Amino acid sequence: MAGRIPEDFIDDVLSRTDLVELIDSYIHLKRAGKNYTACCPFHQEKTPSFTVSPDKQFYYCFGCGASGNAVGFLMDYTRLGFVEAVELLARNLGLEIPREETPGQAPREDHQPLFNMLEQAATWFEQQLRNPKVKDRPVGYLKKRGLSGQTAKHFRVGYAPPGWDNLLTALGTDDKKRNHLLKTGLLIENDQGRSYDRFRDRVMFPIRDNRGRVIAFGGRVLGDDKPKYLNSPETPVFHKGRELYGLWEARQANSKLARVVIVEGYMDVIALAQYGITYAVATLGTATSQEHVEKLFRHTEELVYCFDGDDAGRRAAWRALENTLPCVKDGRQVKFLLLPEGEDPDTLVRKDGTAYFEGLLNEATPLSEFFFQQLGAEVDTRTLDGRARLASLAKPYLEKLPESVFRELMRQKLGEITQLKDISLDAVPATPVTPPAAPPQDFAAEESARPRPSQRAPFKRVGKTDTKKMEVPLIEKAVRVLLTAPQEAARVNVPDDIRELNLPHISLLIKLLDYLRHKPDTSTAAILGRWQSEDEGHVLFELAAQEFLLPHHDQTPELEDSLRRLRLLKVEQDLDQIIAEGVKDKERFKQLLHLKKELST
Ligand code: GTP
Ligand code: MN
Repeated sequence: MAGRIPEDFIDDVLSRTDLVELIDSYIHLKRAGKNYTACCPFHQEKTPSFTVSPDKQFYYCFGCGASGNAVGFLMDYTRLGFVEAVELLARNLGLEIPREETPGQAPREDHQPLFNMLEQAATWFEQQLRNPKVKDRPVGYLKKRGLSGQTAKHFRVGYAPPGWDNLLTALGTDDKKRNHLLKTGLLIENDQGRSYDRFRDRVMFPIRDNRGRVIAFGGRVLGDDKPKYLNSPETPVFHKGRELYGLWEARQANSKLARVVIVEGYMDVIALAQYGITYAVATLGTATSQEHVEKLFRHTEELVYCFDGDDAGRRAAWRALENTLPCVKDGRQVKFLLLPEGEDPDTLVRKDGTAYFEGLLNEATPLSEFFFQQLGAEVDTRTLDGRARLASLAKPYLEKLPESVFRELMRQKLGEITQLKDISLDAVPATPVTPPAAPPQDFAAEESARPRPSQRAPFKRVGKTDTKKMEVPLIEKAVRVLLTAPQEAARVNVPDDIRELNLPHISLLIKLLDYLRHKPDTSTAAILGRWQSEDEGHVLFELAAQEFLLPHHDQTPELEDSLRRLRLLKVEQDLDQIIAEGVKDKERFKQLLHLKKELST
């Protein structure tokens, strides 16, 4: 296998490529001030929100969040793999690609063969619904459930026939292909090293990623066998806790997602879409995680959780609420709709129709109300005691909310309910609450020994509220300086103590600083390229995109000053902790106080 393409070479290719020219050769770009715009090629829209920066050599869509540099554009637009995209650009520039010999270090893993295999499998499953030998039962089943051909096609519904080696025989024609089938989880290997089809006699639902690539499958039995649903296992291209079924399809069906409904099941997503409610998504049998919520908020500003009205649904809703709180910022709306017992969105929309269901969605309970309703059910607010208890139950949750107008409203509401005027969160002791009920069932066990989605984090008091509200902007600012002027990084010392700061995105900042100190002449496009596939990459893109919004003369804050303030924060966190532990180490305490004074200038 050829070695990695050296990173310097990629940087070189990026710096010689003109992104505007490249993108313009695929979609027509229009000049707008110092940038270029077009209607976004990655989602449907009528007014252009896709923006390309000739200075920074990256693009960003304010509609759907698509972003990247030249390599990223080629990968997303033409579906080339990373290596192929670099090769294409290099060829355009007439450059020969050098390969690195890196003993001991694995070459960057290229997942393209897995995507190709998954795509072929999806097509093959679809074909089985037209295969006269096997199609009768699944087609009958889907008809019985009221699925139209058009909807089936939109979601690429398919069928895995009964038998142990149908897919294996059709697609696993050589060792390499069988290996890819195994890696995607479509085949299982038994103890004797024999492979067989994972999905047998099941209706197949392909799960697609942000770019529409098939990354996994869910399969449902036709009858009452167990397990009812089987999902692909975790694979190099599929991480269940991150993906949402139907998000790609929803983005395809809507130019802009004014709202997204989160439901429990595959069939709910599909039935709603068939009835014109084309903006539903489902988690894959797991609880809604913070990662899910953040992902959704990148595409919409309103989330409606729509769960069954039974105990399990209520628990799922509460769990979702907990994971949503840290993501509630002003301008984002979250609502809850618990359906009558015994109904799910699938049955309800079929029975009562689109208008009725959308009516329910419009009337869904806002998060604030739902929150106090559910907590209030635990206590008797007619008594002073009960009201005090409500205040202490609510406190740890309210603390999870980012500083915002919304948080202030919640605080006031709590004040009204508890009749404790102008409630100050600091005055109420936090009760480490047991949630109203146990976490909902998670189907992980049956598929493989995989860690459960993280258990509830223990509630704890964090830092001082007055410094807290500036934490994230501080990091954002520092990162932004680095994106606009990467060479700044070489000029500063990264104080060791801030490495342990307990703040969102601190590791991103540190990684970026460390990286740039060794490569001070890196361009913005190259930085973005390097982080494109990293978990926190989208944060960089969002920050870089602010460039488009800020007037050019806007002063970027001094990097050094940001670092000083971060150090100060760290000192304050340490002080909090040392105090919480009863100041055992007096010397250290003094040192910290001294440092604090020094840094507070
Ligand atoms: P239908 O009976 O097809 O209408 O199913 P549903 O979508 O109404 O399913 P249900 O409400 O029972 O479950 C909701 C979701 O939980 C499903 O879409 C699956 O993602 C998941 N799920 C349900 N049963 C199982 C199971 O046995 N195994 C796994 N892995 N997931 C399941
Ligand atoms: Mn159902």
